[in-house]
Amino acid sequence: MKVLSILGSPRRGGNTEIVLDEALRGARDSGAECEKVVLRDLNIKPCMEIYKCTEAGVCAIKDDMQALFPKIVQSERLIIASPIFFYSVSALAKAMIDRCQSLWVKKYILELPVSPIADRRGAFISVAATQGKKLFDGVRLTMKYFFDAIDVSYSDELLIRGADEKGEVRKQPEVLEAAYDLGRRLVQNQGG
Ligand SMILES: Cc1cc2nc3c(=O)[nH]c(=O)nc-3n(C[C@H](O)[C@H](O)[C@H](O)COP(=O)(O)O)c2cc1C
Repeated sequence: MKVLSILGSPRRGGNTEIVLDEALRGARDSGAECEKVVLRDLNIKPCMEIYKCTEAGVCAIKDDMQALFPKIVQSERLIIASPIFFYSVSALAKAMIDRCQSLWVKKYILELPVSPIADRRGAFISVAATQGKKLFDGVRLTMKYFFDAIDVSYSDELLIRGADEKGEVRKQPEVLEAAYDLGRRLVQNQGG
């Protein structure tokens, strides 16, 4: 089984990547082949609403997203990981998500299949500094609609509060265990 993970944190080795790496370790231990795409290393422009995608579901902007589209549609399992920035996902993650409007168009306007693979599942990992009750309300909606647009069911999530400084999440060992378990569940077809 192939797991594609997408890191939306600009901070390499930061809290989000630490948690994501644990999830990938769990997935690998369950036999999956895992890939990690680091958005900060890519050139991905925001959606410019050209709407060329209404012709064939293909985005007109020629940047690194063109190589990421096939990875997204061919993955059997997907993990998106982003820190909370102003109650949203990072700008890196949001640009990637918005560019998938071309896949939304493919699915809902052109009524074409988004992916050749059935029963695709995804998980969302997010880390925030504070303890706010509604911290993840917005991003949960964003991710559910994103996963739906790309034909992935939103099957799991790990939403972590109280980690701010680089690496601070390591002070919550239960979180790292939960991430490992999430990776295992995603590959072993457990979860929602
Ligand atoms: C631009 C920016 C906006 C942030 N906004 C929030 C916020 O709205 N709520 C919150 O709890 N933490 C916020 N944070 C803190 C990060 O979510 C926190 O430091 C997180 O651990 C960063 O993860 P990383 O190490 O993977 O980058 C913000 C940080 C930055 C840089």
